[in-house]
Amino acid sequence: MPKRFFVKSYGCQMNVYDSARMGDLLRSGGHVETSDPAKADIVILNTCHIRERATEKIFSELGRVREIKSERAAQGHKTQIVVAGCVAQAEGAEIVARQAAVDIVVGPQAYHQLPALLERGNSLPTVALDLAAADKFAQLPLPERADIRARGVCAFVTVQEGCDKFCAFCVVPYTRGTEISRPVSAVFSEIENLVASGVREVTLIGQNVNAYHGVGPDGRTWTLGRLLSRVAKVTGVKRLRYTTSHPLDMDDELIEAHRDVPALMPYLHLPVQSGSDRILARMNRRHDVKAYLRIIDKIRKSRPDIALSSDFIVGFPGETDENFEATLALVREVGFASSFSFKYSARPGTPSAQATDQIDDQVKSERLAILQELLEEQRQAFNQATVGRELDVLFEKPGRHPGQIVGKSPYLQAVHVERRVATIGDLCPVLITSAGPNSLAGRLVEGKAAA
Ligand code: 5AD
Ligand code: SF4
Repeated sequence: MPKRFFVKSYGCQMNVYDSARMGDLLRSGGHVETSDPAKADIVILNTCHIRERATEKIFSELGRVREIKSERAAQGHKTQIVVAGCVAQAEGAEIVARQAAVDIVVGPQAYHQLPALLERGNSLPTVALDLAAADKFAQLPLPERADIRARGVCAFVTVQEGCDKFCAFCVVPYTRGTEISRPVSAVFSEIENLVASGVREVTLIGQNVNAYHGVGPDGRTWTLGRLLSRVAKVTGVKRLRYTTSHPLDMDDELIEAHRDVPALMPYLHLPVQSGSDRILARMNRRHDVKAYLRIIDKIRKSRPDIALSSDFIVGFPGETDENFEATLALVREVGFASSFSFKYSARPGTPSAQATDQIDDQVKSERLAILQELLEEQRQAFNQATVGRELDVLFEKPGRHPGQIVGKSPYLQAVHVERRVATIGDLCPVLITSAGPNSLAGRLVEGKAAA
């Protein structure tokens, strides 16, 4: 019998992608999506385990979902609660021990089994946590045209999953498993299907995307640089991006793609985490500050207008004031267009959670505030510097005001254009006239095509 399902995604872009694929899978079985959990026969929370706060959020949300389940039960309706994603993988049956209303716990590599798990409808909870036992992607249906259109002109495509780097703070190698790369042909079929339904910008995603090493149709292993240069040739692909990358995997082919592939946007998210060699070593990042700066230098030589972004962790165990100052110095030296920064969160099972020199929360908060102020200053300066420039904008949706249309610059900045002279999916040159705190405004440069 067709059921109504509700999916909520937490955390990273890969979870957004996985949630969409779970939706595609359930729709292909005749089920219908609802945006109201109170009306759903199936409630799926696709969870994130990266920091403690993310995990705690899930348990409070589960408390609310449990209430919905009992209200619906009183009206004679059955509700199945599914916990998917990284908390599922990390905590498994513990989730059911903490919240007995949960029916199914399914890990990020096992969600292709979802229809079968739901069908079983046991009164006992089911836990499915196989890590890459089967190729889940091969068992997922491609999304339908109408669903792709509803998601807009920009799409994510997972090309790589998992991580073998084992940074001392990070749960990802445990929740997502070892590195795997999808075969080139699978990536192409998915992208061709998306583009045929109106997608114009594709972001290739992976926990460690630049470690991509998928099997090509020639039987050889393709790097991310090669993959990007070939995907750029797919008719209809106007823009390409990729995220997230590790500095050690920034090979020359990828750096040269930034010079040679016009569809590849001049924007690179390259997390450094800390500007102190001592902390980088303790984090097991396997590179020092000098090596990071060398890579940045090479990328800038290859693509001089590239904008950079990074992730930072403050208050890693043992971080001294001096070590933190080194992070600020690195930020000043590089200059970032936009960044994410976090207080270190000790995660169960990770090596650095055992360190005896944990940093006081008050100190972490102070450092985070200082770092965020500097990063915000740089972000604003970067946005201001685009005023007066002509930037290509890919239009994505109508703006808040009547007639307004909103898109993104090559540097991921939101750009508003007042007069609705462009259509969604168009890539047009826009003269940037002003920069607000979170977006730019501009006007279309008439009679000129995008570069
Ligand atoms: N504590 C704080 N931040 C973390 N990140 C990963 N693990 C932790 C942790 N234990 C951050 C890193 C990573 C981003 C996705 O999340 O900066 O790049
Ligand atoms: Fe975590 Fe990224 Fe390091 Fe992998 S590379 S362990 S995802 S921080």
